[in-house]
Amino acid sequence: MHIHRLEKIWLTVGITMLFVFLAVLGVSAFAMGTKPPSEHHHRIDPTQVDTTAPFDKPGLTKIGDNEYEAVMTAFTFGYAPDNMEIPAGATVHFTVTSKDVVHGFAIPGTNVNMMIVPGEISQITHTFTEPGEFLVLCNEYCGGAHEWMKTKIIVK
Ligand code: CUA
Repeated sequence: MHIHRLEKIWLTVGITMLFVFLAVLGVSAFAMGTKPPSEHHHRIDPTQVDTTAPFDKPGLTKIGDNEYEAVMTAFTFGYAPDNMEIPAGATVHFTVTSKDVVHGFAIPGTNVNMMIVPGEISQITHTFTEPGEFLVLCNEYCGGAHEWMKTKIIVK
């Protein structure tokens, strides 16, 4: 069987690329421990949120120099605590879970955008450099009053 020289080159390049990609995947997965972000290790019983720490006391805690931890719950149709106030320049570590169904946790104009799944704890950190009012809204359809589900972060 005769294979044209250009076809041989093409096949060699193609098969080489395949093995390069498999090697990159293998090294990143097994040697470097890269895994999908969906693999949560933080799980709680979604029916016991009100009695499970830290969600039994949702709130804002100062943990450092202009650094806060915000423990929040999402529910139909709101967030606790509501309308949190922080000083400008504050770094906030959000820890959020849901008490009922899947909700969203998005702050337009920032990189904060999480899916809040019952039984899972979602975390994200954001630094609020500018004073102003930041809307937190739900961007996962969760029921009749979904479009009213929001709260505010007031940066002073
Ligand atoms: Cu909560 Cu939509």
